[in-house]
Amino acid sequence: MSRTVFVNGEFLPEEEAKVSIFDRGFLMADAVYEVTTVLEGKLIAFDGHMVRLERSLSELGMDKPEWMDSLLDIHKKLVEENSLENGMIYLQVSRGVADRDFAYPAEGTPTSLVLFTQAKNPLANPMYETGARVITVPDQRWGRRDIKTTQLLYPSMAKMMAKAEGVDDAWMEEEGFINEGTSNNTWIVTKDGKLVTRHLSNSILHGITRKAVLRCAELLQMEVEERPYTKEEAANASEAFFTSASAFVCPVVEINGNTIGEGKPGPVVSQLRDIYLEESMKEAV
Ligand code: PDD
Repeated sequence: MSRTVFVNGEFLPEEEAKVSIFDRGFLMADAVYEVTTVLEGKLIAFDGHMVRLERSLSELGMDKPEWMDSLLDIHKKLVEENSLENGMIYLQVSRGVADRDFAYPAEGTPTSLVLFTQAKNPLANPMYETGARVITVPDQRWGRRDIKTTQLLYPSMAKMMAKAEGVDDAWMEEEGFINEGTSNNTWIVTKDGKLVTRHLSNSILHGITRKAVLRCAELLQMEVEERPYTKEEAANASEAFFTSASAFVCPVVEINGNTIGEGKPGPVVSQLRDIYLEESMKEAV
């Protein structure tokens, strides 16, 4: 069934939605994006995603889209028009349309804004039951991973490396330490019960789910360390998991062929996942 999408001020059937071949998002990956989850027709952590969008735009000196103040209404209208119960809304802002040049286009060139829905029930992920298996790969992305840009070729390659090994995802490693997954933030639970996730810096995306899970850990009075950890420490952890808007809190049961804990989702991850869903739904709009 054809979806209704939003392109530069217009709601259109997806077949009629067009973006110029000169769009810098297409030519230069000069674009930023957000993915917001919809559960029971409601947007999860909408404000957090919009705050990060503004930061990404500002870090790249990119103008805000003309429809910036209407983004909540646009999201809601897409949920309604597409009868979206559970799924995602993808939003992309690019630096707009200009003849190909490495230098940014003239001031005042309007940015392009595109939004579309993806009807995929994030709650129906079989990995919540089985746990995910991951490998580590060298992190060969650019140095500003804190900006959510559409330069996703290396994460796609890493995902394909994981697939080729017959596992579910790849965790990216730099100078011996784990940064994050291809499209998620990564966590371990140490043998003495501490939650560990890499501290914020330019090396990782500042995940909205990561932030929410840190709040949940506080509610559960869990001890948390935001610091680097090696793949060896991860492989010896009692539990491991990753977080993202679309995966929520997803258990990991194998890292580089090493079984984590008892090889099945552990109690800490299950507890965090439940409270994350409960707390997120309280604030959903
Ligand atoms: N990915 N790290 C990376 C590299 C990501 O691409 C993502 C999100 C995250 C988690 O961020 P958040 O909790 O705000 O979703 C961490 C999204 C879901 C995607 O690209 O589809």
